[in-house]
Amino acid sequence: MYWLGIDIGTGGSRALLIKEDGQVTHGFTAAHDDIIMHRPLWAEQRPENWWDAAQAAIRGVLQAASIDGSQVAAIGLSGQMHGLTLLDEANQVIRPALIWCDQRPQEQVDFVHATLGRANVVRWTANPVLTGFTLPKLLWVRDHEPENFARVRHVLLPKDYIRFCLTGEYATEVSDASGTSLLDVVHRRWSGEMIEGLKLDPAILPRVYESPEITGRVSEAAAALTGLKPGTPVVGGGGDQASSAVGNGIVEPGIASDTLGTSGVVFVHLDEPAYDPEGRVHTFCHAVPGKWHVMGVTQGAGLSLQWFRNQLAPAESYDDLTALAATAPALSQGLYWMPYLMGERTPHVDAYARAAWIGLTAKHTRADMVRALLEGVTYSQKDCLVLVERMGARVDKVRLSGGGAKSPFWRQMFADAFNKTIATLETQEGSAYGAGLLAMVGSGRFPSVEAACRAAIRETTTVTPDPAAAATYARGYEVFTQLYPALKDVYPKL
Ligand code: XUL
Repeated sequence: MYWLGIDIGTGGSRALLIKEDGQVTHGFTAAHDDIIMHRPLWAEQRPENWWDAAQAAIRGVLQAASIDGSQVAAIGLSGQMHGLTLLDEANQVIRPALIWCDQRPQEQVDFVHATLGRANVVRWTANPVLTGFTLPKLLWVRDHEPENFARVRHVLLPKDYIRFCLTGEYATEVSDASGTSLLDVVHRRWSGEMIEGLKLDPAILPRVYESPEITGRVSEAAAALTGLKPGTPVVGGGGDQASSAVGNGIVEPGIASDTLGTSGVVFVHLDEPAYDPEGRVHTFCHAVPGKWHVMGVTQGAGLSLQWFRNQLAPAESYDDLTALAATAPALSQGLYWMPYLMGERTPHVDAYARAAWIGLTAKHTRADMVRALLEGVTYSQKDCLVLVERMGARVDKVRLSGGGAKSPFWRQMFADAFNKTIATLETQEGSAYGAGLLAMVGSGRFPSVEAACRAAIRETTTVTPDPAAAATYARGYEVFTQLYPALKDVYPKL
């Protein structure tokens, strides 16, 4: 038998097949259309396009493995979080979805905090409302498109729309629902305070499950479109970050993950809910039943290097650039990079923050500039780590994944600057893999998420910190933390 994990990402939908032992055998990705951006800060996608891509990915992976749907025991879904999908009475999509990176509803964020009190919102949902989250997007539609809002009968997150297409059920699970600003994250149910306080109809919200629970079964109609077998169970799955954490084995205290892609995300497991009253990190339900997680986000992590290459070194590869950085001394002769190319979430929660090199002299070289850039991103991820540790999370080791994890030089820098062991994993499939493992748990192949991760996930390389380098980076980090406060008041004037 096989288990199927499906991730509805931003760029595309990916389907993965996993065998009994938890190892991936086949994967297939179908691209999504480009994000629709009618204005700066607006970002939309058509849910129907996700469904077309999901069908193509499912058919593609079954074909790649030369199997038919009867060999799939269960399905798990993961997906981009926070997106607003609206269905009418006839289950038709009312308008394109406002997705996670859509930043338009600042007025609605301010309205919620003013109406209910920011401290109450943090108490009820464990987080302040952010422009990226689902609730303010729904209120934006209420304020700006009343004719569309009047037709709303169901509000679904991206992967939950695909669940509806597969099973006909209106359902979600706790990890993704945590990013709506409507979930009581501590009690793992919709927040009556938020819903009543904003005069929303609770009937438009889907039923909430724990992530490995079975939420429905593949319908005859969906089976005909995908090649799956009617009746195949579909488990809750998770938001992309929580699913990816399952795929990286971050399901018990002590190990954190750092996903170093365009953004950089430090993710830790929590046995008990804990939140930052200032909202600098996100506290969400984990895809592990009865557990939570907290994550800190650097918006411009891998993006910093990508920007440098695209703008200043178009003929060079990332390997060339990290090799160049390795020729410069640690601390880059007193040069620092502030990686705020897209504002910042953790720890500054400042959309106006901007990037900069601080400390340039005529003596500095390109090698110093690239090294400073890698160091600045690393310090910014350390900001996230420091915050989650201060909240009580124990971190003995960090599992590094994403494009940045491919560089041994950067991995060593992380080990030294974090002063932690850094490990990489055999399977780097992230969210779709986590969703597949959740399907294995939901269908009884493994007794728990923890057991699935212990059986399936294997580390490949580990690097340990060098004490002398760790002391050097501790001095550098101390300087780095003084830069943002010094420049903070200038950013809005730029
Ligand atoms: C999580 C977040 C992203 C999106 C898109 O808070 O914004 O992970 O889910 O990948």
